[in-house]
Amino acid sequence: SRLPLLLRAMPKAELHIHIEGSLEPELIFALAERNGVDLPYADVEALRAAYAFTDLQSFLDIYYAGASVLLQEEDFYDMTMAYLRRAVQDNVVRAEIFFDPQTHTERGVAMGTIIHGLTRACRDAHAQWGISAELILSFLRHLSEEDAIATLEAALPFRDQFIGVGLDSSELGHPPEKFTRVFARAKQLGLRLVAHAGEEGPPAYVWGALNALAVERIDHGVQSEKDAALMQHLVERGIPLTVCPLSNLKLCVVDDLTQHNLPRMLDAGLKVMVNSDDPAYFGGYVNDNYVQLFAATGMGAEHAYQLARNSLEATFASPQQQAAWV
Ligand code: ADE
Ligand code: ZN
Repeated sequence: SRLPLLLRAMPKAELHIHIEGSLEPELIFALAERNGVDLPYADVEALRAAYAFTDLQSFLDIYYAGASVLLQEEDFYDMTMAYLRRAVQDNVVRAEIFFDPQTHTERGVAMGTIIHGLTRACRDAHAQWGISAELILSFLRHLSEEDAIATLEAALPFRDQFIGVGLDSSELGHPPEKFTRVFARAKQLGLRLVAHAGEEGPPAYVWGALNALAVERIDHGVQSEKDAALMQHLVERGIPLTVCPLSNLKLCVVDDLTQHNLPRMLDAGLKVMVNSDDPAYFGGYVNDNYVQLFAATGMGAEHAYQLARNSLEATFASPQQQAAWV
């Protein structure tokens, strides 16, 4: 079949990628050496061997350990250029990239160091390869709302260098309502709003993200299927769901890709598309996600077209910019 070729060649947007989750083991070790950081793993093979996850938290523990090698502006730049170079190979024309500043400011890294490194890479990648890339500042939901508010305030000198805010990390026990005030503040500032919801958490968390936080997209959202009224609401409002099949598989949200509910959600009229989440940890970049999901579920060229179209229509780029892609 020529379907994998179509999936790889079609222009697409990637809207759910954590830049810290693009750090490959080789780059983690290179940065550890450059910065004199000690890692609790002997080598690249030992680190990769630890990538056997049972749930979201078992992944997050290793993901935050990997991010501990990021100290200098150059580290954030090199990480982001490596991701964007890879995204261009996958025919990604637009990337909206999450970063977790609290993971770094907690270790004494300045907000400006983080954002300048990321921004410089987005600019250079655009100039060299034509890819459009923007940043979304994501709050860690296992920390307090006060900490999130302080993080947003610390990022305000760089307000023009990110387009929105998101919410990630440990979902269960940290409902969206915990972050009502910081999302209201972000909205006042003209920032676009998204949140992880319904990855492991219940449909009530998706309702919470929509009603309490006023988000414009839901990250993951795969648990929405358990609530028929929620499904109808998502279809009627045209709320995009940024789904990540290999992530769901590796974090045991689904037992098998053949069981993944993306085809059902697409057929139900939801604006879903395919993303990589944390490609260095989950065994594939965005095209690997498309190819493996299609091989497992038997979707065809019409589904491919709709998913790519959904991804481009769900971006926060201007309508003029979108018209150039769709
Ligand atoms: N941080 C990085 N990847 C994440 C995911 N899939 N869910 C929640 N937080 C994350
Ligand atoms: Zn995610």
